[in-house]
Amino acid sequence: MKPYQAHKLAIAPMMDWSDRHCRFFHRLLVRGALLYTEMVTTGAVLHGDRARLLAFDPAEHPLAVQFGGCDPRALAACARIAADLGYDEINLNVGCPSDRVQEGRFGACLMAEPALVGDCVAAMKAVVGIPVTVKCRLGIDAQDPEQALDTLTSAVEAAGVDALIVHARKAWLDGLSPKENRDIPPLDYDRVYRLKRARPRLPIVINGGVVSLGQVSMHLAHVDGVMMGRAAYREPWCLLAADPLLFGVPAPFATPRAAAEGLIPYIERETARGTRLYAIVRHVLGLFHAVPGARAFRRHLATEAIKPGAGVATYREALAYVRDDEARDFDVRLAQTAA
Ligand SMILES: Cc1cc2nc3c(=O)[nH]c(=O)nc-3n(C[C@H](O)[C@H](O)[C@H](O)COP(=O)(O)O)c2cc1C
Repeated sequence: MKPYQAHKLAIAPMMDWSDRHCRFFHRLLVRGALLYTEMVTTGAVLHGDRARLLAFDPAEHPLAVQFGGCDPRALAACARIAADLGYDEINLNVGCPSDRVQEGRFGACLMAEPALVGDCVAAMKAVVGIPVTVKCRLGIDAQDPEQALDTLTSAVEAAGVDALIVHARKAWLDGLSPKENRDIPPLDYDRVYRLKRARPRLPIVINGGVVSLGQVSMHLAHVDGVMMGRAAYREPWCLLAADPLLFGVPAPFATPRAAAEGLIPYIERETARGTRLYAIVRHVLGLFHAVPGARAFRRHLATEAIKPGAGVATYREALAYVRDDEARDFDVRLAQTAA
């Protein structure tokens, strides 16, 4: 197998956000970034509605599936299923702090069980030819982030992991909600840079608090790749600058409006299959942030797209609120995200 080449940009796995509609939309905005599914538990894959949970559109490639689990055999079975379906990468969640996940003994609490994480990676590597990666934290609770991250990295490296994505803050399992755990424990980018310097051969992707492509470029001086979560989701327009800036190819669309119009065939296809309009367009609400007409666009979708039978006509009505001087404003905003 070729050595793993980290994507300079990845869009984070986000439960309830990075569903297949969201990913299709993000792919319209950036071709070069690696996209991630929401976390899917091994139990859900093995015993649930697998076809629905793992469904994706071929246009979404390159696409990684993220699994939540801690049983090497179950993870291996899921890995094989995902590889057969055509996913490009399998990622193990060692960063989610929710109570439900802790009860299942996976997610961030696996930071305390590096040997088990190594076994999970080895079990998946043994059965698939596609890359297997891990997304982790700096540590949990009272762990020393120097030691915890080193120990985990050694375990997964020995197991053959292809890359490590590090959310550059600890998780506090006792006392903080998952949402608080994304903001309150302080970010420590230097800890991730040090990890990369200590393990130059292991591809390292940094995550946490990255809000612009300028910041992505800055991190790329220290690590192999950058994963953006909330900023990419809330301000998807900034993704339109990623292909020219990071991958040296033209943007798929010149403006957010053009990208929004590019989504119309997908909306037609999906609503014809019975998908509710809002399930798709809820991911598009931030596309025109701070552009004249943006608020009316969002309001129209929020009130009309939830109605039974809403379809592409409703979407076009919302788009009509966005003013035509959007293109000029957009050049300014692109320059801002790249700075
Ligand atoms: C709504 C939401 C859901 C998330 N779900 C997951 C998940 O399923 N798996 C995971 O590894 N991280 C999950 N995360 C964490 C993100 O992947 C990312 O690590 C975190 O938001 C920090 O990156 P950011 O500051 O760029 O958003 C989630 C974050 C959000 C906001």
